Amino acid sequence: MFLGCGEGYGVLVTFEGIEGAGKSTLVAGVAERLRSGGERVLVAKEPGGTEFGEAVRALFLDPAFAVDPVAEVMLINASRAQLVAEVIAPALKTGTVVLCDRFYDSTIAYQGFGRGLDGEELLQICLAATHRISPDLTLLIDIPVEVSEARVRARGGKDRLELENAAFHTRVRDGYLALAARFHQRYVTLDGVKESALLVREAAAIVEARRVERL
Ligand code: TMP
Repeated sequence: MFLGCGEGYGVLVTFEGIEGAGKSTLVAGVAERLRSGGERVLVAKEPGGTEFGEAVRALFLDPAFAVDPVAEVMLINASRAQLVAEVIAPALKTGTVVLCDRFYDSTIAYQGFGRGLDGEELLQICLAATHRISPDLTLLIDIPVEVSEARVRARGGKDRLELENAAFHTRVRDGYLALAARFHQRYVTLDGVKESALLVREAAAIVEARRVERL
């Protein structure tokens, strides 16, 4: 089934970045701003976002398991396929602005650049999982790895991915910057060290501009 975001569809905006970049706060702030401007907005999150996906998320982040990178890809894409089928595709069909905290670029960044799996192969697997739905706009919230480590420490984070070393997170960050350069038509990179309210205003303006382009 092909469910591309063609004419008549909503807008899929994805938020990406390493741990502690501030994606969740930014997504919530942008959603509130857009809603107060009269937009219909849906917020989604990966991994998770459905009952099935939340069960996968708990398994995926559990530090008790040493998970093979290919198994990571399959788990994440199981959660993703469910989220797209159950939540994202129906919302896009009704013209909703969908704000998704992570999407398949996370797999390219973490399992591709971070774990060393082939990016092109990963993209094909991810596109199968999303029924070939791709983001219209991706906001990369970029922060230095040292800032990420300090923020994760401060919030007491210790899930399976947060426990990876600085070299892993540096590969992931560099991977995101490479994706932003390669897919520059849909990527905007924001400085995640900036003050949160300022970032919300900046991000909401970018989303609104892309929304207008699509109408
Ligand atoms: P988060 O809710 O803090 O973003 O945590 C999700 C974690 O899962 C984060 O460490 C990134 C990781 N992840 C992947 O490794 N691959 C993926 O495709 C996705 C969506 C997340």
